[in-house]
This record gives sequence, C-alpha cells and structure tokens, in this order.
Amino acid sequence: MHIIPASQEDVDVIQRRGANDSCPPPFEEAIGADHQSFDIYVENIKSATDDAEKIRWRNQLTWAVARHAISEELTLYPAMEKWLGEEGVQLSKTDKEQHQGRLKVKESLYEIQDMAPTDPSFWPKLDTLMDHLHHHIEHEKDEDMPRLEKLLPRAESEALARSFQRTKNIVPTRSHPAAPTEYYAESLVALLAAPIDRLQDWLRDFPTEEDGKRAEERREKL
Ligand SMILES: [Fe+2]
Ligand SMILES: [Fe+2]
Repeated sequence: MHIIPASQEDVDVIQRRGANDSCPPPFEEAIGADHQSFDIYVENIKSATDDAEKIRWRNQLTWAVARHAISEELTLYPAMEKWLGEEGVQLSKTDKEQHQGRLKVKESLYEIQDMAPTDPSFWPKLDTLMDHLHHHIEHEKDEDMPRLEKLLPRAESEALARSFQRTKNIVPTRSHPAAPTEYYAESLVALLAAPIDRLQDWLRDFPTEEDGKRAEERREKL
C-alpha cells in the first residue's frame, strides 16, 4: 500500500493544530513539515537495503519535492508578493531562481528522478540536490516565513495552509525545469503536465507501509 498521506488528512492536521496557539502558525507549519520530510526520504534512500526499495524512496522524494515546489509557486510566493509588497517580490524572485535556475532544485531533481541508484552518478547528484534544497529551505525558513507570518492574520495563515495542501493534489508530481514559475503561465502548464505525471506515477513503485516500518526501525538503531 502507498504511504503518501491523503490530502484530507493533511487538511485535518492543519485544522486540529490551528486550534493550538503553541504550535507554529499553520502555513509555516505546513511548509516546514514538507521540508523535514525531504531529509527523511533521503535518509531512507541511503539506508534501504536493496535497490528496489531505494528506487521506491527516490520516487517518493521526487513526488514530494516536485509537488511542494510548484504548490509554493502558486500559493506562498503570490502571498508574499501580496502581503510584503516590493520586499515580497524580491524575496520570491530569489526563491524562484533557487527553484528554477541552472543546476538548482528542479534541475537537480530532474537529473535523479529516473536515475538508478546503481548508477555511480546517482549519489553525488543526490547530494547536489540536497545542497541546493537545504540552501533554499534556509531562505524560506529564515527570510520568507517569519516576515510573512508576522503580517498574516491567523485565519489567513490557515487558509493558505489549506490552499497549499490542496494545490499539491492538482500539480505535476515530477520535475519539469523548463516550465515557467510565474503564476498564470504555471497554472496552465501545471494543469497540462499533471495528468501525464500522474499516469507515469501508476507505473512507478512507491514505498509501502512495510518500507516505512523498516526505515523507522533502521532509524531507531542509529
Ligand atoms: Fe521553495
Ligand atoms: Fe519550500
């Protein structure tokens, strides 16, 4: 069975946590939870004991990063431009360049999304992807989210978190570095590319519940 979380569960978590003021603001929490999951998937690729399981975790990482990046471009960055004005425009410009530029997140993801872990180039390319991703995540965590959440009313933060999670359900699930990052153009391209990606996803294996349990056991032994 596939362990990708159901969208409604994501939304329920946001609503439950929305009631607890000791948690980070909902939008920041939704973005941050995805960021943390990327490191776990990479750890699982590395610790998996056979190639087929490594491929399943590679597919999970691709699926998660591709949806996350495009959903941010359709929800987070427009919100920054709306609430932070010119500062938001400049911050989101940096973010889009970190997503899209040559050999940045989408390009690095594109390089590994179909590469076998038995290929000697796979591991250095995975490390390169994670270097780009960590650098970019720091920018979102330290520069974007604190500025945005400071201005967002709680209800708006909750609405954006729900929109971010729901948008992930309709966007492409693989990297398309040549696609635009601008809101209107991307919406159209995303709608065209998403069904093709989802069809290809049917042909790919994803981690099972058993894979998840085994990865957890390996983590506990460390
Ligand atoms: Fe991002
Ligand atoms: Fe992000």
